Amino acid sequence: MAMRKAMAEAPVGDDVYGEDPTVNLLQDRVAELLGKEAALFVPSGSMGNLIALYLQAGRGGEVLAHEYSHIIHYELASGAALAGCQILPVPGERGILKPEALLRQVRSPIYYNARTKLVEIENTGNLAGGTCYTDAELAAVHTWASGQNLPVHMDGARLWNAAVAQGVTPGSIAAHAETVTVCFSKGLGTPVGSVLAGSRSFIAEALRIRKMLGGGMRQAGILAAAALHALDHHLAGLADDHFHAKLLAEALGSSGWAQVPVSPETNIVFAQTPGRSAAEVAAKLAEKGLRASAMGPQRIRFVTHRDVTRDEIHQACRLFSEL
Ligand SMILES: Cc1ncc(COP(=O)(O)O)c(C=O)c1O
Repeated sequence: MAMRKAMAEAPVGDDVYGEDPTVNLLQDRVAELLGKEAALFVPSGSMGNLIALYLQAGRGGEVLAHEYSHIIHYELASGAALAGCQILPVPGERGILKPEALLRQVRSPIYYNARTKLVEIENTGNLAGGTCYTDAELAAVHTWASGQNLPVHMDGARLWNAAVAQGVTPGSIAAHAETVTVCFSKGLGTPVGSVLAGSRSFIAEALRIRKMLGGGMRQAGILAAAALHALDHHLAGLADDHFHAKLLAEALGSSGWAQVPVSPETNIVFAQTPGRSAAEVAAKLAEKGLRASAMGPQRIRFVTHRDVTRDEIHQACRLFSEL
Protein backbone atom coordinates (compact mmCIF):
# COMPACT_ATOMS: atom_id res chain seq x y z
CA MET A 1 0.00 0.00 0.00
CA ALA A 2 2.85 2.42 0.79
CA MET A 3 4.15 2.10 -2.75
CA ARG A 4 0.67 2.68 -4.20
CA LYS A 5 0.36 5.79 -2.02
CA ALA A 6 3.73 7.11 -3.19
CA MET A 7 2.63 6.55 -6.78
CA ALA A 8 -0.69 8.31 -6.27
CA GLU A 9 0.95 11.30 -4.63
CA ALA A 10 3.82 11.74 -7.10
CA PRO A 11 4.09 15.11 -8.82
CA VAL A 12 4.01 14.46 -12.59
CA GLY A 13 4.50 16.22 -15.91
CA ASP A 14 4.95 15.20 -19.54
CA ASP A 15 8.13 13.14 -19.66
CA VAL A 16 8.26 13.22 -23.47
CA TYR A 17 9.12 16.90 -22.93
CA GLY A 18 11.42 16.05 -20.01
CA GLU A 19 8.95 17.76 -17.68
CA ASP A 20 8.13 15.00 -15.21
CA PRO A 21 9.82 15.96 -11.94
CA THR A 22 9.54 12.45 -10.46
CA VAL A 23 11.06 10.80 -13.51
CA ASN A 24 13.85 13.38 -13.49
CA LEU A 25 14.45 12.75 -9.80
CA LEU A 26 14.68 9.00 -10.34
CA GLN A 27 17.03 9.39 -13.30
CA ASP A 28 19.32 11.71 -11.34
CA ARG A 29 19.26 9.45 -8.32
CA VAL A 30 20.06 6.30 -10.26
CA ALA A 31 22.81 8.04 -12.25
CA GLU A 32 24.38 9.08 -8.95
CA LEU A 33 23.95 5.65 -7.35
CA LEU A 34 25.61 4.00 -10.33
CA GLY A 35 28.30 6.66 -10.67
CA LYS A 36 27.24 7.57 -14.23
CA GLU A 37 26.75 11.01 -15.80
CA ALA A 38 23.14 10.43 -16.80
CA ALA A 39 20.29 7.94 -16.79
CA LEU A 40 17.04 7.29 -18.62
CA PHE A 41 13.82 5.71 -17.34
CA VAL A 42 12.67 2.95 -19.69
CA PRO A 43 9.62 0.67 -19.51
CA SER A 44 11.59 -2.57 -19.23
CA GLY A 45 14.97 -4.20 -18.83
CA SER A 46 14.62 -5.56 -22.35
CA MET A 47 14.29 -2.07 -23.75
CA GLY A 48 17.28 -0.83 -21.75
CA ASN A 49 19.42 -3.64 -23.12
CA LEU A 50 18.13 -3.18 -26.65
CA ILE A 51 18.97 0.53 -26.66
CA ALA A 52 22.48 -0.29 -25.40
CA LEU A 53 22.94 -2.80 -28.22
CA TYR A 54 21.42 -0.46 -30.80
CA LEU A 55 23.76 2.37 -29.96
CA GLN A 56 26.93 0.46 -29.17
CA ALA A 57 26.84 -2.46 -31.62
CA GLY A 58 24.33 -1.49 -34.32
CA ARG A 59 23.84 -2.96 -37.79
CA GLY A 60 26.44 -5.59 -38.57
CA GLY A 61 28.19 -5.15 -35.23
CA GLU A 62 28.95 -8.09 -33.00
CA VAL A 63 28.33 -8.41 -29.27
CA LEU A 64 30.15 -10.88 -27.03
CA ALA A 65 27.86 -12.18 -24.30
CA HIS A 66 27.76 -15.20 -22.04
CA GLU A 67 26.00 -18.18 -23.63
CA TYR A 68 23.38 -18.13 -20.84
CA SER A 69 22.62 -14.44 -21.18
CA HIS A 70 19.11 -13.05 -21.14
CA ILE A 71 19.76 -11.05 -24.32
CA ILE A 72 20.38 -14.34 -26.15
CA HIS A 73 17.60 -16.44 -24.65
CA TYR A 74 14.73 -14.23 -23.61
CA GLU A 75 14.70 -11.02 -25.62
CA LEU A 76 13.23 -12.43 -28.83
CA ALA A 77 16.41 -11.87 -30.85
CA SER A 78 15.73 -8.14 -30.58
CA GLY A 79 19.44 -7.45 -31.06
CA ALA A 80 19.16 -8.96 -34.55
CA ALA A 81 15.60 -7.92 -35.34
CA LEU A 82 15.77 -4.31 -34.19
CA ALA A 83 19.36 -3.28 -33.44
CA GLY A 84 20.77 -5.21 -36.43
CA CYS A 85 23.60 -6.81 -34.48
CA GLN A 86 24.73 -10.37 -33.93
CA ILE A 87 25.39 -11.79 -30.47
CA LEU A 88 28.14 -14.37 -30.11
CA PRO A 89 27.62 -16.74 -27.17
CA VAL A 90 30.75 -17.12 -25.03
CA PRO A 91 31.10 -20.01 -22.54
CA GLY A 92 32.14 -19.58 -18.93
CA GLU A 93 31.53 -21.31 -15.59
CA ARG A 94 28.79 -19.91 -13.33
CA GLY A 95 27.70 -17.51 -16.07
CA ILE A 96 30.91 -15.55 -15.64
CA LEU A 97 32.84 -14.22 -18.65
CA LYS A 98 36.63 -14.39 -18.53
CA PRO A 99 39.10 -12.53 -20.78
CA GLU A 100 40.58 -15.85 -22.04
CA ALA A 101 37.17 -16.93 -23.37
CA LEU A 102 36.39 -13.49 -24.81
CA LEU A 103 39.74 -13.37 -26.55
CA ARG A 104 38.84 -16.50 -28.53
CA GLN A 105 35.71 -14.83 -29.93
CA VAL A 106 36.90 -11.33 -30.66
CA ARG A 107 37.32 -10.68 -34.42
CA SER A 108 40.61 -9.69 -35.93
CA PRO A 109 40.34 -6.47 -37.95
CA ILE A 110 40.43 -8.11 -41.40
CA TYR A 111 38.03 -6.36 -43.75
CA TYR A 112 35.92 -9.49 -44.34
CA ASN A 113 35.29 -10.03 -40.63
CA ALA A 114 32.35 -8.59 -38.73
CA ARG A 115 33.41 -5.97 -36.20
CA THR A 116 33.29 -6.84 -32.52
CA LYS A 117 31.67 -3.79 -30.94
CA LEU A 118 30.52 -4.56 -27.42
CA VAL A 119 30.92 -6.90 -24.45
CA GLU A 120 27.78 -7.64 -22.46
CA ILE A 121 27.89 -8.81 -18.85
CA GLU A 122 24.87 -10.06 -16.92
CA ASN A 123 25.11 -9.48 -13.17
CA THR A 124 23.57 -11.31 -11.46
CA GLY A 125 23.32 -14.06 -14.06
CA ASN A 126 19.73 -15.26 -14.26
CA LEU A 127 20.10 -18.59 -16.09
CA ALA A 128 23.38 -19.19 -14.29
CA GLY A 129 21.47 -19.23 -10.98
CA GLY A 130 21.72 -15.68 -9.62
CA THR A 131 25.51 -15.70 -9.66
CA CYS A 132 27.51 -12.54 -8.94
CA TYR A 133 30.72 -11.40 -10.56
CA THR A 134 33.39 -10.64 -7.97
CA ASP A 135 35.04 -7.25 -8.22
CA ALA A 136 38.18 -8.93 -9.59
CA GLU A 137 36.16 -10.78 -12.25
CA LEU A 138 34.44 -7.57 -13.33
CA ALA A 139 37.72 -5.68 -13.39
CA ALA A 140 39.35 -8.39 -15.48
CA VAL A 141 36.64 -8.21 -18.17
CA HIS A 142 36.52 -4.42 -18.14
CA THR A 143 40.27 -4.00 -18.35
CA TRP A 144 40.49 -6.52 -21.16
CA ALA A 145 37.59 -4.89 -23.06
CA SER A 146 39.07 -1.40 -22.65
CA GLY A 147 42.35 -2.74 -24.03
CA GLN A 148 40.41 -3.90 -27.10
CA ASN A 149 38.58 -0.58 -27.35
CA LEU A 150 35.29 -2.29 -26.57
CA PRO A 151 32.69 -0.75 -24.28
CA VAL A 152 31.02 -2.98 -21.69
CA HIS A 153 27.25 -3.01 -21.19
CA MET A 154 26.05 -4.54 -17.94
CA ASP A 155 22.61 -6.13 -17.81
CA GLY A 156 22.13 -5.36 -14.14
CA ALA A 157 18.48 -6.38 -13.95
CA ARG A 158 19.48 -7.79 -10.54
CA LEU A 159 22.51 -5.61 -9.85
CA TRP A 160 20.83 -4.63 -6.58
CA ASN A 161 20.89 -8.27 -5.48
CA ALA A 162 24.60 -8.51 -6.28
CA ALA A 163 25.33 -5.33 -4.29
CA VAL A 164 23.40 -6.53 -1.24
CA ALA A 165 24.83 -10.07 -1.39
CA GLN A 166 28.39 -8.79 -1.64
CA GLY A 167 27.96 -5.85 0.75
CA VAL A 168 29.24 -3.37 -1.83
CA THR A 169 27.73 -0.25 -3.38
CA PRO A 170 25.86 -0.45 -6.70
CA GLY A 171 28.32 2.15 -7.98
CA SER A 172 31.32 -0.06 -7.35
CA ILE A 173 29.75 -2.75 -9.55
CA ALA A 174 28.59 -0.34 -12.25
CA ALA A 175 32.07 1.21 -12.39
CA HIS A 176 33.16 -1.79 -14.46
CA ALA A 177 30.81 -0.99 -17.34
CA GLU A 178 30.27 1.97 -19.64
CA THR A 179 26.50 1.46 -19.71
CA VAL A 180 24.20 -0.31 -17.27
CA THR A 181 20.56 -1.42 -17.21
CA VAL A 182 18.95 -1.84 -13.78
CA CYS A 183 15.42 -3.08 -13.11
CA PHE A 184 12.96 -2.14 -10.40
CA SER A 185 10.30 -4.64 -11.41
CA LYS A 186 12.13 -7.72 -10.11
CA GLY A 187 13.30 -8.10 -6.49
CA LEU A 188 12.55 -4.45 -5.74
CA GLY A 189 8.89 -5.09 -6.44
CA THR A 190 7.63 -2.26 -8.66
CA PRO A 191 4.97 -2.95 -11.29
CA VAL A 192 7.03 -1.47 -14.15
CA GLY A 193 10.33 0.17 -14.83
CA SER A 194 14.03 0.01 -15.52
CA VAL A 195 16.77 2.58 -15.92
CA LEU A 196 19.58 2.73 -18.45
CA ALA A 197 22.65 4.69 -17.33
CA GLY A 198 25.82 5.89 -19.02
CA SER A 199 27.61 8.98 -20.26
CA ARG A 200 25.65 12.16 -20.98
CA SER A 201 26.15 11.82 -24.73
CA PHE A 202 25.08 8.16 -24.68
CA ILE A 203 21.91 8.96 -22.75
CA ALA A 204 21.09 11.85 -25.14
CA GLU A 205 21.10 9.33 -27.99
CA ALA A 206 19.29 6.72 -25.87
CA LEU A 207 16.44 9.21 -25.42
CA ARG A 208 15.95 9.28 -29.21
CA ILE A 209 16.02 5.50 -29.55
CA ARG A 210 13.62 5.04 -26.62
CA LYS A 211 11.14 7.29 -28.44
CA MET A 212 11.71 5.43 -31.71
CA LEU A 213 10.93 2.13 -30.00
CA GLY A 214 7.70 3.53 -28.61
CA GLY A 215 9.04 3.91 -25.11
CA GLY A 216 8.36 7.62 -24.67
CA MET A 217 5.91 7.89 -21.80
CA ARG A 218 3.87 10.86 -20.62
CA GLN A 219 3.05 11.16 -16.89
CA ALA A 220 5.46 8.36 -16.09
CA GLY A 221 6.18 9.88 -12.68
CA ILE A 222 3.60 7.56 -11.16
CA LEU A 223 5.88 4.68 -12.19
CA ALA A 224 9.12 6.44 -11.28
CA ALA A 225 7.65 7.10 -7.83
CA ALA A 226 7.34 3.36 -7.31
CA ALA A 227 11.02 2.94 -8.16
CA LEU A 228 12.03 5.74 -5.79
CA HIS A 229 9.94 4.14 -3.06
CA ALA A 230 11.62 0.80 -3.74
CA LEU A 231 15.08 2.35 -3.48
CA ASP A 232 14.14 3.89 -0.14
CA HIS A 233 12.36 0.90 1.37
CA HIS A 234 12.99 -2.38 -0.45
CA LEU A 235 16.74 -2.62 -0.98
CA ALA A 236 17.67 -4.02 2.43
CA GLY A 237 14.93 -6.66 2.18
CA LEU A 238 16.82 -8.37 -0.63
CA ALA A 239 19.03 -9.93 2.05
CA ASP A 240 15.95 -11.82 3.34
CA ASP A 241 15.26 -13.11 -0.17
CA HIS A 242 18.83 -14.38 -0.33
CA PHE A 243 18.50 -16.09 3.04
CA HIS A 244 15.21 -17.64 1.91
CA ALA A 245 16.90 -18.98 -1.21
CA LYS A 246 19.50 -20.69 0.99
CA LEU A 247 16.75 -22.29 3.10
CA LEU A 248 15.05 -23.57 -0.04
CA ALA A 249 18.34 -24.92 -1.38
CA GLU A 250 19.06 -26.79 1.87
CA ALA A 251 15.57 -28.31 1.94
CA LEU A 252 15.80 -29.29 -1.72
CA GLY A 253 19.22 -30.82 -1.13
CA SER A 254 17.90 -33.06 1.63
CA SER A 255 14.58 -33.87 -0.08
CA GLY A 256 15.90 -37.02 -1.75
CA TRP A 257 14.51 -36.09 -5.19
CA ALA A 258 16.48 -32.94 -5.97
CA GLN A 259 20.10 -31.89 -6.09
CA VAL A 260 21.36 -28.34 -5.80
CA PRO A 261 24.76 -28.36 -7.46
CA VAL A 262 25.57 -24.75 -6.61
CA SER A 263 24.58 -23.06 -3.39
CA PRO A 264 22.58 -19.90 -4.21
CA GLU A 265 24.41 -16.58 -4.02
CA THR A 266 21.28 -14.43 -4.29
CA ASN A 267 17.56 -15.08 -4.81
CA ILE A 268 17.60 -17.77 -7.51
CA VAL A 269 17.85 -21.50 -6.80
CA PHE A 270 18.39 -24.07 -9.52
CA ALA A 271 17.84 -27.72 -8.70
CA GLN A 272 18.38 -30.86 -10.75
CA THR A 273 15.65 -33.49 -10.61
CA PRO A 274 17.50 -36.67 -11.59
CA GLY A 275 15.13 -39.37 -12.82
CA ARG A 276 12.12 -37.04 -12.66
CA SER A 277 10.67 -34.62 -15.14
CA ALA A 278 11.12 -31.04 -13.97
CA ALA A 279 7.83 -30.10 -15.66
CA GLU A 280 5.98 -32.78 -13.68
CA VAL A 281 7.62 -31.69 -10.44
CA ALA A 282 6.67 -28.07 -11.19
CA ALA A 283 3.08 -29.13 -11.91
CA LYS A 284 2.88 -31.06 -8.60
CA LEU A 285 4.26 -28.10 -6.68
CA ALA A 286 1.83 -25.77 -8.44
CA GLU A 287 -1.09 -27.94 -7.25
CA LYS A 288 0.07 -27.15 -3.71
CA GLY A 289 0.41 -23.45 -4.45
CA LEU A 290 4.16 -23.26 -5.01
CA ARG A 291 5.20 -21.87 -8.35
CA ALA A 292 8.51 -22.88 -9.88
CA SER A 293 9.75 -22.97 -13.49
CA ALA A 294 10.96 -26.03 -15.34
CA MET A 295 14.07 -24.70 -17.10
CA GLY A 296 15.11 -27.95 -18.75
CA PRO A 297 14.03 -31.61 -18.79
CA GLN A 298 15.44 -32.10 -15.27
CA ARG A 299 16.18 -28.60 -14.13
CA ILE A 300 13.85 -26.48 -12.07
CA ARG A 301 14.15 -22.87 -10.91
CA PHE A 302 12.86 -21.23 -7.74
CA VAL A 303 12.98 -17.47 -7.20
CA THR A 304 12.44 -15.79 -3.85
CA HIS A 305 11.09 -12.26 -3.57
CA ARG A 306 9.64 -9.82 -1.10
CA ASP A 307 6.09 -11.17 -1.42
CA VAL A 308 7.16 -14.57 -0.11
CA THR A 309 7.23 -14.62 3.69
CA ARG A 310 9.48 -16.67 6.00
CA ASP A 311 6.45 -18.81 6.93
CA GLU A 312 5.77 -19.55 3.30
CA ILE A 313 9.41 -20.52 2.81
CA HIS A 314 9.10 -22.97 5.72
CA GLN A 315 5.90 -24.34 4.15
CA ALA A 316 7.75 -24.78 0.86
CA CYS A 317 10.56 -26.62 2.64
CA ARG A 318 8.05 -28.99 4.24
CA LEU A 319 6.43 -29.56 0.88
CA PHE A 320 9.81 -30.52 -0.61
CA SER A 321 10.29 -33.23 2.00
CA GLU A 322 6.77 -34.62 1.40
CA LEU A 323 6.98 -34.71 -2.40
C1 LIG B 1 18.89 -10.80 -16.47
C2 LIG B 1 17.67 -10.15 -17.07
N1 LIG B 1 17.83 -9.15 -17.92
C3 LIG B 1 16.80 -8.52 -18.48
C4 LIG B 1 15.52 -8.88 -18.16
C5 LIG B 1 14.39 -8.20 -18.86
O1 LIG B 1 13.62 -7.43 -18.05
P1 LIG B 1 12.12 -7.05 -18.48
O2 LIG B 1 11.28 -8.22 -18.17
O3 LIG B 1 11.83 -5.85 -17.61
O4 LIG B 1 12.14 -6.71 -19.93
C6 LIG B 1 15.29 -9.93 -17.26
C7 LIG B 1 13.92 -10.35 -16.91
O5 LIG B 1 13.69 -11.25 -16.15
C8 LIG B 1 16.41 -10.58 -16.70
O6 LIG B 1 16.27 -11.60 -15.84
